[in-house]
This record gives sequence, structure tokens and C-alpha cells, in this order.
Amino acid sequence: MKTLILYSSHDGQTKKIAEYIAAHLQGEVRVKALTENIQIESFDNIIIGASIRYGHFNSILSNFIQKSTALLNKKRTAFFGVNLTARKKGKDTPETNVYVRKFFLRNQWQPTLKAVFAGALFYPRYNFFDRIMIQFIMKITGGETDTTKEIEYTDWDKVRLFAEQFNMMK
Ligand SMILES: Cc1cc2nc3c(=O)[nH]c(=O)nc-3n(C[C@H](O)[C@H](O)[C@H](O)COP(=O)(O)O)c2cc1C
Repeated sequence: MKTLILYSSHDGQTKKIAEYIAAHLQGEVRVKALTENIQIESFDNIIIGASIRYGHFNSILSNFIQKSTALLNKKRTAFFGVNLTARKKGKDTPETNVYVRKFFLRNQWQPTLKAVFAGALFYPRYNFFDRIMIQFIMKITGGETDTTKEIEYTDWDKVRLFAEQFNMMK
């Protein structure tokens, strides 16, 4: 069984989650950055993870899914979304996280397993504009506003459970 984990990541947290999942999967696993023309035919299983920036997944994700839906629906597949909204209870499942819910309303891909993971807040790494914007969003959503801080909200037990569930899927 060969598994390919594809990630779309801007600041590295989705990549880190993808690598963590890989370390907990059975069989041969490869982890790669998602590109529109990536070849997936030779893999039995595909897991795709993508992060949100300013309300959207990277357009590479939608383009890839639109082109590959038929093939993906024939394989064992899973998806995980990463964002900061998911740090809050009640917004941390595929059904309750607005970005993941809307994504699957727009697409015909039907992964067997879906999850949403809280991402990370890396204020010092952001450029001035992004830092101010994220600070504003954090302020109105009751989050951290100290721009000297880096906080990882990812629940690694939840990520490990996702990998274990994928291992058990037939
Ligand atoms: C510029 C920027 C915009 C973001 N926009 C959103 C957003 O609209 N909604 C949200 O829930 N999280 C948002 N986030 C949080 C990211 O999804 C989170 O930091 C995630 O860990 C990023 O993953 P990555 O490092 O793999 O790109 C944003 C983060 C940044 C830096």
C-alpha cells in the first residue's frame, strides 16, 4: 500500500502536520507539496491537507481537485483543513468549520475521512501587513494579540487519531 500526502502550506504548519501524519501511517508513505500537475496514479491512498489564508484555500487546491475528482473518488482518500478558526470548540469539525464545509459543498470529491486542525500563530514571522491584519482578526475573535508571540494551537493527539483512523480504513 502506497500513500501520498500532499500539502498546501504557506508558513509550514500544514507541512508539519502532513509529516506528523506520515510518521504515524502504515506502509510506504511519501509527503509532497501540492502542485496542479502532480501525478497521483501510482498511489493507492491520497491524503490532502491545506491551510486557509484570508478566508481561502490556495487556488492550486481547487484546480487540482477539479481536474482529479474522478481519480480521487476511485482511491482511498482523506482531507484535512488547517486554520485558526478551528482553535475554537464548535468550529473544529468538517461540518462546523466554515472553510471546510463550504469547500465540500463546491466540490464532488468525497474523501472517506475529513478533519480540521487548528493551525499556528507566528506573529514575528509575518510581514507588517499580515501581522496587523491577523492581530485585528484575533482581537475581534478573542484571541492572542501580543505580536511578539508564536503559538501552536494544533492538537497533536487529534492529528494522531486521524492517522490511526486512516490506517484502519479499508
Ligand atoms: C496572512 C494570514 C491569513 C490568515 N487567514 C485566516 C483566515 O481567514 N481564517 C482562519 O481561520 N485562519 C487564518 N489564518 C491562520 C492560518 O490558517 C494558520 O496560521 C495556519 O496554521 C497556516 O498554515 P500554514 O503554515 O500551513 O500555511 C491566516 C494566517 C495568515 C498568516
